Amino acid sequence: MNLRNFKLFFLAFAVVPLIAACRNKQKEKDGFIKDNVEFAIAQTDKMLQAVGEPTGKNYPRTINNKGELVNTGMYDWTPGFFPGSLWYLYELTGDTKWKDVAEKWTESLEPLKTFTGHHDLGFMMYCSYGNADRLAPKPGYKEILIESANSLSTRFNEKTRTIKSWNYRKAWNGTTEWFYPVIIDNMMNLEMLFYASKITGDKKYYDIAVKHSDSTLKNHFREDFSAYHVVDYDTITGKVLSRATCQGFSDNSTWSRGQAWAIYGYTMVYRETKDAKYLDAAIKATELYLKNLPEDLVPLWDFNAGEAGYLPEGKSYAVKFQKKLRDASAAAIVCSALFELGEYANRPEYVDYAVKMLYSLASPAYRAASDSNIDFLLMHSVGSIPHKSEIDKPLVYADYYFLEALTRYKNLGSKK
Ligand code: GLY
Repeated sequence: MNLRNFKLFFLAFAVVPLIAACRNKQKEKDGFIKDNVEFAIAQTDKMLQAVGEPTGKNYPRTINNKGELVNTGMYDWTPGFFPGSLWYLYELTGDTKWKDVAEKWTESLEPLKTFTGHHDLGFMMYCSYGNADRLAPKPGYKEILIESANSLSTRFNEKTRTIKSWNYRKAWNGTTEWFYPVIIDNMMNLEMLFYASKITGDKKYYDIAVKHSDSTLKNHFREDFSAYHVVDYDTITGKVLSRATCQGFSDNSTWSRGQAWAIYGYTMVYRETKDAKYLDAAIKATELYLKNLPEDLVPLWDFNAGEAGYLPEGKSYAVKFQKKLRDASAAAIVCSALFELGEYANRPEYVDYAVKMLYSLASPAYRAASDSNIDFLLMHSVGSIPHKSEIDKPLVYADYYFLEALTRYKNLGSKK
């Protein structure tokens, strides 16, 4: 074969099929995104009709055992997710109709800027106002985020070098007391502090976020890098008093959503600091998580639920039944995080996992049929089994991270 023929042969049998395969892949991806966006639009349109105008008391959260919509007031930990989902619909569609409703729902949360009652202000304000300021900034948004960061910072203690998650409370068993509980979920609230430092130039928020990240890295992980849910601190000495669970199966088990918050949280802290120790933490937490996944990549609500050696104190709930339950919310959080972590860690396999997780969540096993699920997107999440609450139900934050993951998938490869 002469050189010219070889070139023609190569073009016909290697390059052309490769281009066709890439085109087909892109077509499949575009179709997948279109289908999921159309579904999310239809469900969310109906949800908006069901909830009406924001009143400060009607933020969609889940479904009760009678199959009715459950809303919360703004002081619960989840009111930022519905406005946040509306922002992702705006980002995914470019349709200003979504911007208008997202603004309205976001601005209904302004009174929270002075709230100091628990640590979740980052979730509440950054998923709403943070996305608003990123996608459609308006005068006043930055000031609200800064005031919110100030409010969250009031819960920081130099002795424990952490932000207190909850005020004094008893554990689910009704006897164990926590005076200064910090939960792994709290990593997520730090994103708003990093942002406040960026927009003010004042490093104090950044320093709090880094100190909290370091204390959590030191105190919240077992040797295998599974995360404890709750760490209770002594505010006189700064030492750890106990390590426990609140929403997991037992104190020594791994609650899958807690592990998901750790993965997402340390990925985000690495993005903001570029300190390799946080990247390492995110990778180790991910490796442990991936090892515990079933075939469809949606985890059991707790990796050790029902296993011998992990019996919960009090044993007050049905062990066998719970063992089978999945938590789609944990899957959505990790799915979204791995799109980002894969890039930082230079591990394309994490992005492959993220895509597979997204397809699994979008399959009929987890994505609701149209016109069902009281207008939420995903089924099969778990709020808190020890509290007998939101068991195998949709959850607004599962939908939020699902839409975030869908947006990240859409943007994959396009340097924004
Ligand atoms: N941050 C509370 C939860 O994950 O249930």
